[in-house]
Amino acid sequence: MGKFTFTQENEEKFQTIAKKYPKIDSMMLPGLWLVQEQEGWVSPDAMIFIADKLGKSPIEVYEFATFYTMFNLKPIGTYHIELCKTLSCMIMGAPELKKFIKDTLGIGPGETTADGKFTLSEVECQGACGGAPMIALNHQYHENLTVDKLKTIIEECK
Ligand code: FES
Repeated sequence: MGKFTFTQENEEKFQTIAKKYPKIDSMMLPGLWLVQEQEGWVSPDAMIFIADKLGKSPIEVYEFATFYTMFNLKPIGTYHIELCKTLSCMIMGAPELKKFIKDTLGIGPGETTADGKFTLSEVECQGACGGAPMIALNHQYHENLTVDKLKTIIEECK
């Protein structure tokens, strides 16, 4: 087994959720989600840990983790900006927001600032199209964004 292990709290959460399912196989998604909650990303070590727990091969866990875009396969910054790139947000100004992030933080999609503070990801529709354009910042939604509003949000994080 690799170096990753659950905290006692997450181990308990894992066991509690596992009781709801007839088969341990169903714990792939919640297990990886708990990993990401704990570490911020899903490392190869953590995949081995989950594989071991579920009686799977590491490659099966890897295939699962890489299928879902919600799993971060690289370490991410303290602030994770998830910029919606789907139609409503695109039309309403997501490209300008992306350009602003590039101009001010120097990062594009999939990149993290050198100080490890911000990571930008482009994501599909977040179900907040009525508030387009939007970002999720560490899972918290910010809707009806303008470049000025985004500037304030980023400045508050600095
Ligand atoms: S298109 Fe962006 S939230 Fe739906």
